[in-house]
Amino acid sequence: MKRTVTKAKLIEHLDADLSRELKAILLYMWCHSMAFGIRGHELREILAPEIHDEIKHVQFLADKIIALGGTPRFVVPEFKRPTAIREMLEYALSIEREAVQAYAERVDEASDLGETALQVKLEELITEETEHLELLQRLVKGLSPEQ
Ligand SMILES: [Fe+2]
Ligand SMILES: [Fe+2]
Repeated sequence: MKRTVTKAKLIEHLDADLSRELKAILLYMWCHSMAFGIRGHELREILAPEIHDEIKHVQFLADKIIALGGTPRFVVPEFKRPTAIREMLEYALSIEREAVQAYAERVDEASDLGETALQVKLEELITEETEHLELLQRLVKGLSPEQ
């Protein structure tokens, strides 16, 4: 089987995934504290379990990087701090889209390296991030033009 990725590259990519998850957690915590009004109240209720999901993703990625022989760096990327509900949702949506795409690439890399358990777990992550993505899409769709 022709390998297109090395184990070191996979570790590096998983570490970048971990950073993106940290960004998602901080963005969601920002939105959770800064979403006001009735819509904001709904958003808070929706984001609370998502924050929990993203924390679990960080834990999984950190443990997996270590299992593969690496060390997670826990680099926190810069992130925007939107104050309008629409901006919050659209920014969150873009991060979830990135996550789905990144994990799809990671599935191929894990498969190339014969890391079957990782591949299966990454497919689960794709399912969870897609659920986040579709929920956010529904919320954006329901916003009135002035929001
Ligand atoms: Fe995540
Ligand atoms: Fe997510």
